[in-house]
Amino acid sequence: MKDEIFYIKGLGGKKTLKGEVSICGAKNAVLPLFASSLLFDDEVKFNNIPDIEDCLRMSEILEKLGVSVIREKKGQYILNASKTNGKVIDEEIAKKLRASIILTGPVLARFGKVSFPHPGGCVIGARPIDIFIDGYKSMGATVKEKGGLYIIETKNGLKGANIFLRNPSVTATEAFVMAAILADGETVIKNAATEPEIMDLIEFLVSCGAKIKGEGTSTITIVGSKKLLKARGFSWRVVPDRIEAGSFLILGALCADNLLISNCEPKHLEALTSELIASGVPITIGQDFLQIKNNAKISNKKFKSFNIKTHEYPGFPTDLQAPAIVFLTQVLGESNVFETIFENRLGFAEDLVTMGANIRMLDAHRIIVKGPSVLKGRELYGPDLRAGLAFVIAGIVGKGESRIHNVYYIDRGYEEIDKKLRSIGVDIKRI
Ligand code: EPZ
Repeated sequence: MKDEIFYIKGLGGKKTLKGEVSICGAKNAVLPLFASSLLFDDEVKFNNIPDIEDCLRMSEILEKLGVSVIREKKGQYILNASKTNGKVIDEEIAKKLRASIILTGPVLARFGKVSFPHPGGCVIGARPIDIFIDGYKSMGATVKEKGGLYIIETKNGLKGANIFLRNPSVTATEAFVMAAILADGETVIKNAATEPEIMDLIEFLVSCGAKIKGEGTSTITIVGSKKLLKARGFSWRVVPDRIEAGSFLILGALCADNLLISNCEPKHLEALTSELIASGVPITIGQDFLQIKNNAKISNKKFKSFNIKTHEYPGFPTDLQAPAIVFLTQVLGESNVFETIFENRLGFAEDLVTMGANIRMLDAHRIIVKGPSVLKGRELYGPDLRAGLAFVIAGIVGKGESRIHNVYYIDRGYEEIDKKLRSIGVDIKRI
């Protein structure tokens, strides 16, 4: 992992950015879609795949499981799991990718055994996996822990079960949907997550013949069969990344005069666009684009503050909480931010305070932001990919120079972010 840094010259509150950014396919849809290749005995084709680190990590883990992963050209991949017989999820890569836990569903369902390390990922919280363990047990699997590895197996295949998720976990919902497809009988998942990325996975699987009902609701019913699925040459376009689109929309609100955010899905971002529009940001909502127009003449302190309470979809996404807090430091008024999903996702706000933000940390889940304040550029270390991007936005809206470390984290979730930023007028260098 190279220790590259971003070197940014701040705009000091001026709104000079302009142009267009095109949104990539959603990282959090690609990861389960790639994992689902294990449910097929022929090749599956995906397009609109972003060139980001997490997709490369997932590809590496799949290749170690014997899946062939071919990047036909930019954005286009063919995966073929007909020859795979892997059961061990690669330890050191899984540690870098929390989402590798999604693989436990299809691997366990297809081979009757899976072993994997407690998955790594961001520092945003303990990231327990009790929901996965309990769910697989209810499908008839046994779970052992040996030398830091979990070993889950079923003697004669998984059986359909009724699974109630104590938290509407996104990756647990995805893993159980995939496990249930090859389980014997019917599985009902209650209190399931309903994120658009889960819908994308389910719509893809249903179009390949999987029997799944209730997508988009919190009760998903799957009728499993022992037979592997067949894609029959079908190719699937991955849904646009709502978090990338939302991150650029917040940057645009603070620093752009005119910004077109194209190839996105506005209906997946209503929790953010409704707040920004109510705050006074001039946003036009199109079919597959969002546009900020004539924004330079409105100073950020004219925008009204708003409260944030992160919530599962369609509520305010926890992955946009960090960029949104930077917005709240620039607008007039006091905002309460309540991060309900992760217990350690507000730590980065203390770094914004050292830049000049007026933020009071109430506890691990709640802060109060008072705006507007001038942010002064400085040396910053992004703790995770979303806070890393929030620091980039803070560096751009602030004055002076910022050096942001741990660029690898940002590259995990945003394709060529510095190139896109330079194309709309940001003075940013990767060194
Ligand atoms: C997914 O993570 C996303 N990652 C995260 O995006 C996102 O922040 C999160 O959902 C919430 O929207 C992917 O989709 C790859 P959870 P996931 O399981 O599934 C608790 C990003 O920046 N929980 O929905 O790992 C957990 O502690 C990443 O792209 C259990 O208690 O999150 C949390 O409080 C960061 N036991 C809550 O559920 C479990 O077994 C929601 O977590 C699993 C989770």
